[in-house]
Amino acid sequence: MELKDVIEKRRTIRDFQSNKISKDIIDYAIENGFKAPTYNHLRDWDFIILNHLESKLKLIESENLDKSIDSKELEHQFKNEEKIMKEMYLDAIPKQKKMILEAPTVIIVAFKPKTRVAEAKKIYDLNCLASIWTCIENFLLSLAEYNVYGVTFIPQNIETIKKKLEIPDELEIASIIPIGYMADNARILKQKTINISERKHYEKW
Ligand SMILES: Cc1cc2nc3c(=O)[nH]c(=O)nc-3n(C[C@H](O)[C@H](O)[C@H](O)COP(=O)(O)O)c2cc1C
Repeated sequence: MELKDVIEKRRTIRDFQSNKISKDIIDYAIENGFKAPTYNHLRDWDFIILNHLESKLKLIESENLDKSIDSKELEHQFKNEEKIMKEMYLDAIPKQKKMILEAPTVIIVAFKPKTRVAEAKKIYDLNCLASIWTCIENFLLSLAEYNVYGVTFIPQNIETIKKKLEIPDELEIASIIPIGYMADNARILKQKTINISERKHYEKW
């Protein structure tokens, strides 16, 4: 498949079929993830692959996603936001629990930080976080090539997740990525149209 087609195809999906994804596709995406650029040449990255409901429930509990969401309250919260952004949050927030439970596989992407994210003072200190996201993009693009999609969920309670899933303390979690085939009624939100020529600056701003 042409690179441009894969880039077009990759979209965030939060509604999944229950069909399992073959191990070969997941392995291929992880291998391509490890080909991404990295700040220190070490690629201190780990993928924790969750296929069992019991493991996914540990994420739900850690993130307190069991609480019900008041859709009116949510609407009110985003009433002054840009339409395209409001639409995304109103679709996304109520689906955070469902997407983790319904995706056939959930991947936790972890990395070894040089500086703890909470202690970072300069952009340079976050190079480890920047690097893992180059890996995540390779991973998502490689899945899209095989019609498998994902959503990058950012956890709030990383320490609890680490304890529950026995992830070594020295690691940080960059993202939790439910992945799967798109449900027939999956919502694909419109991407904001960007006037790219206005975003390009030559020699100076
Ligand atoms: C750093 C980052 C954090 C994100 N956090 C979440 C999240 O916690 N939950 C969620 O449902 N989507 C999350 N997303 C997905 C975005 O909402 C999505 O990428 C965005 O709306 C653009 O849609 P697209 O990926 O289809 O182009 C995140 C994406 C990124 C890159």
